[in-house]
Amino acid sequence: MTAPYRVGIVGCGAISRNHLEAFAAIPEATVVAVCDVDPDRARETAARWGIPQALGSVEELLAAGVDIVSVCTPHPTHEAVVLAAAAAGVHVLCEKPIAIDLASAERMVAACDAAGVRLGVLFQRRFWPAAQRLRAAVGDGTLGRPILGHASVLLHREPEYYGATPWRGTWATDGGGVLMTQAIHYIDLLQWLMGDVTEIHGHIATFRHDIEVEDTAAAVLRFASGAMATLSASTAATPSLGVGIRITGETGATAELTEFPEGTDGRVTLFARGGTIETEPAHPAGTDPNVDLSTINGQLIPHHTAQIRDFVDALGANGDEGREPAVTGRDATAALRILLAVYESSRTGRPVDLTREGALS
Ligand SMILES: NC(=O)c1ccc[n+]([C@@H]2O[C@H](COP(=O)([O-])OP(=O)(O)OC[C@H]3O[C@@H](n4cnc5c(N)ncnc54)[C@H](O)[C@@H]3O)[C@@H](O)[C@H]2O)c1
Repeated sequence: MTAPYRVGIVGCGAISRNHLEAFAAIPEATVVAVCDVDPDRARETAARWGIPQALGSVEELLAAGVDIVSVCTPHPTHEAVVLAAAAAGVHVLCEKPIAIDLASAERMVAACDAAGVRLGVLFQRRFWPAAQRLRAAVGDGTLGRPILGHASVLLHREPEYYGATPWRGTWATDGGGVLMTQAIHYIDLLQWLMGDVTEIHGHIATFRHDIEVEDTAAAVLRFASGAMATLSASTAATPSLGVGIRITGETGATAELTEFPEGTDGRVTLFARGGTIETEPAHPAGTDPNVDLSTINGQLIPHHTAQIRDFVDALGANGDEGREPAVTGRDATAALRILLAVYESSRTGRPVDLTREGALS
């Protein structure tokens, strides 16, 4: 085996644990440095994980000599970190959302292309076994071409979720609410399962949380294939009902994914001509539907690990050219466009035609 890729983690907050656990499970990569603008956090993280260097900025981290940077910082800070990594010729794995505005996402993609480095964005839900089964049901002809979809993201968040993390809940520092932070994963799954989105009509509102951004949203999506889907999302539900994704295909069969409690592996039920092919209890008795955030993040570790393993594999070995990672910066930009179109549609009261040049500028 060649020497493992040297990895630097930028941002030592809640989700960095998932990246650290993932890299610990991948022999072809080793974390050599972490950095955070809060030096105590960087020091504590390095000490806990036995990482040689705890640094204060991405510049110091890049100067330490890394091949891959994992970006685990708040949304509007992603761009500066990604541009610095690209300029240093370092591959980048960035947490979702890629950015909070389209121009920023496009600059990130262009900078990585120009530097010849790979840009992957975390949508680890694609690696969910249940999502893979849903995708297989589309691909193997069981559903055939999707004609109708639905994503329901009905989550519970305590008020402290927004209060305890200073950057959450404002347009400037978070960029959006339930769409930008939670539903973006399922928006990505809808486009992954159903293809390019061409038109969106939606509404957002803030009903229960004391935040600037939306806690609730609903939208109708039209796809290039002619298919349609609806999306409803909220962090105002008590109890949480988790996530449901339902796809009906041109064969008439419907596959439904249910995840409950939030963060669990999800189950897929297939409704087809021969009857219900697979069912398991969607709501196991005695489970607390309002799971705390660190438990949710912890349950995501296997999916983060699968996506991060794909990213490292995509880089190739022995200096070969590798391949694109499973989720690219372009995929993440497309997901961002969809949710920004919901904001725009809600603001104007009109559908947004995403095929129109400059539709969101
Ligand atoms: N993929 C998922 O399911 C998932 C889940 C949770 C969070 N996230 C994403 O991960 C990112 C981080 O979220 P979090 O919950 O870990 O946030 P957090 O606030 O817990 O941690 C962010 C850390 O980044 C540090 N930081 C801020 N600016 C920095 C900079 N310029 N350079 C270095 N460090 C900086 C902060 O001091 C903090 O320690 C966000 O994009 C979030 O949406 C993804």
